[in-house]
Amino acid sequence: MSVLRSVVTGVGGYLPETVVTNDDLSKIVDTNDAWIQERTGIRSRHRASEDQAVSDLAVEAAKKALAAAGRSAADVDLIVLATTTPDLTFPATAAIVQRKLGCPVGVAFDVQAVCSGFVYALTVADGFVARGHSKCALVIGAETMTRLMDWTDRGTCVLFGDGAGAVVLEPGEGQGTTADRGLLGFALRCDGTKQDLLYVDGGPSTTGTVGKLRMLGNQVFKHAVINISEAITAAANHAGVTIADIDWFIPHQANQRILHGVAHRLGLDESKVIQTVAHHANTSAASVPLAWAEGVSDGRIKKGDLLLIEAMGGGLTWGACVVRL
Ligand code: UT7
Repeated sequence: MSVLRSVVTGVGGYLPETVVTNDDLSKIVDTNDAWIQERTGIRSRHRASEDQAVSDLAVEAAKKALAAAGRSAADVDLIVLATTTPDLTFPATAAIVQRKLGCPVGVAFDVQAVCSGFVYALTVADGFVARGHSKCALVIGAETMTRLMDWTDRGTCVLFGDGAGAVVLEPGEGQGTTADRGLLGFALRCDGTKQDLLYVDGGPSTTGTVGKLRMLGNQVFKHAVINISEAITAAANHAGVTIADIDWFIPHQANQRILHGVAHRLGLDESKVIQTVAHHANTSAASVPLAWAEGVSDGRIKKGDLLLIEAMGGGLTWGACVVRL
């Protein structure tokens, strides 16, 4: 049976130039390199310069993804951009990226699911591509999380960084089997009752301010491993594959201990886990596509590989996708 699939034909990532080490942070807040490394695995993170908006980061990642796919901005008819740090309250950052890239009139909008944003956005774009409504879609995760930090709160400000990652999705004919290239299955979740564990304390319709990130880290941690594992199992079932079939696990890069915990719980070999948290920290919606881009550019991830991506963040939201590259 012939089916239309959304195939990832290009991946790209962008990290701003400025690198902030744990030692740099220990000069502004009561922390130290040993604590941060031991509890999170993070050694450094990137920070956008003052004149860089999140759309600028997104544009750089998108250009790389388009080049990898052999496409140009003129081909793009859909942009779905996941961010929790938009340039403006409106228009959507996706619309700004469309203008900056010079794409023709098409569909462009943002998805807000915080750290799970890219996983959500990929499934939303799949709804267009696999139904024949888009021939060339950009799915972008881009964040300037450092702009949401309370630099007096050592429990959060050491954890996040800035960056962007993007993939190009194009329609491809499949046979309706797990050998098809494309998005094969997914599972998305949100539990709004857990809002107070991770949120930003400002917004246009409440305080009229942007606000700062607040997190009860150890409580989020407790939910993370269990929730993520459940969504991964559901996504694998939806795709009709088993965890043993997975070639590469590309998790949300929030904390090395969560990453290890999930891999262990699922019986996933550590050598199959793409890990960038040490040098990227938590880049929220950008984290999965950035790690994906790194795995492709260093030659580990190859065409035909079966990938498992997952993320969890504010909402609480979480989810996973199974993709054959
Ligand atoms: O992407 C969205 C999802 N987010 C996450 O997945 C984050 C999940 N949570 C975590 O990764 C971890 O909970 C943290 C890394 C945030 C914290 O690690 P923890 O092992 O849960 O530490 P804790 O919050 O229980 O704090 C332990 C101690 C506290 O001191 P006392 O009360 O025991 O004296 C904290 O004040 O560590 C202290 N502490 C720090 N010490 C040095 C907290 N932050 C720091 C710091 N440097 N930066």
